[in-house]
Amino acid sequence: MPRTAILGLGQYLPERVVTNDDLAKMFDTSDEWIRQRTGISERRYVEDGTGPADLAVPATKQALENAGLELEDIEFIIFATLNPDYFFPGSGCILQDKLGVPGIGALDVRAPCSGFIYGLSAADAFIKTGMYKRILLVGAEVHSSGLEFADRGRDLTVLFGDGAGAVILGATEKDEGILSTHLHADGRYAKDLWMEIPAACYSPRLTKEHMDEGRHYPKMNGRKVFKMAVEKLPKVINEALDANGLAIDDIDLLVPHQANLRINEFVAQKLGLPPEKVYNNIHRYGNTTAGSIPIALNEAIQEGRAKKGDTIMLAALGSGFTWASCLLKL
Ligand code: ACO
Repeated sequence: MPRTAILGLGQYLPERVVTNDDLAKMFDTSDEWIRQRTGISERRYVEDGTGPADLAVPATKQALENAGLELEDIEFIIFATLNPDYFFPGSGCILQDKLGVPGIGALDVRAPCSGFIYGLSAADAFIKTGMYKRILLVGAEVHSSGLEFADRGRDLTVLFGDGAGAVILGATEKDEGILSTHLHADGRYAKDLWMEIPAACYSPRLTKEHMDEGRHYPKMNGRKVFKMAVEKLPKVINEALDANGLAIDDIDLLVPHQANLRINEFVAQKLGLPPEKVYNNIHRYGNTTAGSIPIALNEAIQEGRAKKGDTIMLAALGSGFTWASCLLKL
């Protein structure tokens, strides 16, 4: 059976840099607090009127160029995001229109921070069964238009940034590509990291009262997320190693979801992975959710931290809670 290889990668980060000091002018926080607790120094925000599908367009074009392929080579789109451009239709359809490739299928994946790995898993299955030969997988987020820039929302607002990463996936007969993916979720924790409103289970879905109560802003139990991440990430990484008969020393680079530098340091320590085998760029971009892993993987390759033939571990935990890992050979 063929494997699924990453044929090309791309990314796009909006130009507007927002530093911790910029946020400290809007509500009660400080550069020191944010850097100490999260490792974040700055993040990028879009200009008004820009959605995740807009960010996905240049990321896709870069990924296609990197793969040496044309738009017409894409047979299917998978779009991972927790911030769809609209309630419906999915951002995959919006992106497909912006790319100008009508007719091909487009699927949205709503598994927040784990969305990129869930998307990889779906693409891998499509490719292995021979249903598609080339799939575009995008992780793209615009958080900045939905955050609460006030003391009430500060715990969460400081964490998130906008950005997009894209990969072109295709079948390969070589000793490369996705070795396995491992997907998990536990919906009992849905309300520990969620955005309640607008909600189809309320009629009307959005009222002035909802907004006065701030229920249309994301909410997070930060300590619970932290605790779950440091518990589940090592487990799901070990699950991938066990499935492939590999040991922790066989990993050349861990590219974890960029939610909090402290989480990634804890996870590496628990696994016995030295810092040089873990890639982090959260200081530049904050948490770009579904975008974080493809952006980090792309930058790790650009910086020479990951190269052809390396064994790479991807891992994420986020809202749902969902968590996942993917072991691949570049
Ligand atoms: N600036 C300044 N002070 C703040 C801020 C802020 N931005 N946010 C909270 N505080 C205050 C709190 O009000 C509290 O003050 P008090 O002691 O007077 O009550 C104090 O700082 C400590 O608050 P805690 O919530 O206990 O801080 P903690 O050490 O837990 O750190 C943090 C908070 C950074 C959010 C941490 O819990 C964390 O990183 N959790 C994981 C979150 C995460 O990874 N989220 C990713 C989302 S998952 C996804 O990607 C969708």
